Amino acid sequence: MKKVVILISGRGSNMKAIVENVQKGILQNYCEVVEVFSNKPDAEGLGIATKMGLKTFSIASRKEKNYNGLLFEHLKEITPDFIILAGYMKILDAKIVKYFERKIINIHPADTKLHQGLNGYKWAFRNKLSKTKITVHFVDEGLDSGEIIDQIEVDISNCQTLIEIECKGLKIEHKFYSECLKKILK
Ligand code: GAR
Repeated sequence: MKKVVILISGRGSNMKAIVENVQKGILQNYCEVVEVFSNKPDAEGLGIATKMGLKTFSIASRKEKNYNGLLFEHLKEITPDFIILAGYMKILDAKIVKYFERKIINIHPADTKLHQGLNGYKWAFRNKLSKTKITVHFVDEGLDSGEIIDQIEVDISNCQTLIEIECKGLKIEHKFYSECLKKILK
């Protein structure tokens, strides 16, 4: 059974979907979520994780000058097989990425070849795209530049607002991320 840690920064809906799949869905018997970590101590997702029976931990990236060093030491102590980023809105330090090479996975709400960084759905909305792609990829030292594990197309031609795009996309993310993780965890 693989040991995974999930890193979040906010709402944590992808984290919740993954944990549900670990507890009673397609990821059952594939991995154990040893911790949900956040760089924001008040992240909504931490409360959700606690309610789901998980161990949580946070280091305030805003307050800790040596945030990256502390996070690196913490992750080394946990010795996870995989680090799953689920709405973790900070760039991981190169040292961490190198140490856990091909062990860090991220979900991005756009095609990483076309849009990197924040606000992937806003980018699709502003550019009036009729379809966009959600990408699951390994994390390397660049910004959303790591090897793509898989992508899924989302038809947003009928969406009138950014909220509609986000709702449709997130619903797909919640299923797709666990499917991709299952392939990797095998
Ligand atoms: C998700 O849409 C995820 O793809 C995106 O942030 C949202 C987090 O939602 N990630 C990125 O934009 C990373 N560049 P959640 O906290 O409810 O899972």
